[in-house]
Amino acid sequence: MKSVTYISTSRIGGDESATAEEISHLLEGARSFNTKSAISGILLFTAQRFLQVLEGPAAEVAALFERIQRDKRHANVLVLDYRDITKRNFPDWSMAYVKLDTPPQFLTQAKSGTADHDKLVRDLQQLLLRNS
Ligand SMILES: Cc1cc2nc3c(=O)[nH]c(=O)nc-3n(C[C@H](O)[C@H](O)[C@H](O)COP(=O)(O)O)c2cc1C
Repeated sequence: MKSVTYISTSRIGGDESATAEEISHLLEGARSFNTKSAISGILLFTAQRFLQVLEGPAAEVAALFERIQRDKRHANVLVLDYRDITKRNFPDWSMAYVKLDTPPQFLTQAKSGTADHDKLVRDLQQLLLRNS
């Protein structure tokens, strides 16, 4: 299995409710596809930025990530980590979603490229526990 982690900048326009609607639509499609393709992960949205972890079979992750990179709903896709995994970090989620008003410190760190991936995953798992 592979895991890819990236950050990007949202290009979804409109007010807060239009944005929420677009993301909810995006998640619905994502979860349906991911379930069929054995992909799990988490999507974090904060201050016009996305951070996503995708994990699953190598070919499926690669093909999906290609499509995601071409998606016009975001830009400036920056890969933080791409690795082989033997165990999923988000096994129970076809795509968990967390929205935060204030970007957490680990996202600021991720931007500057100093993040430790295992720590980043632990921070995301904690966020999920607190927000679900
Ligand atoms: C930030 C972001 C995350 C996304 N995550 C997923 C995902 O986990 N699974 C998925 O199937 N599509 C996801 N998408 C949507 C894909 O980019 C794409 O629209 C979808 O796979 C349909 O592809 P198609 O338009 O080429 O048919 C995401 C899009 C964005 C902007």
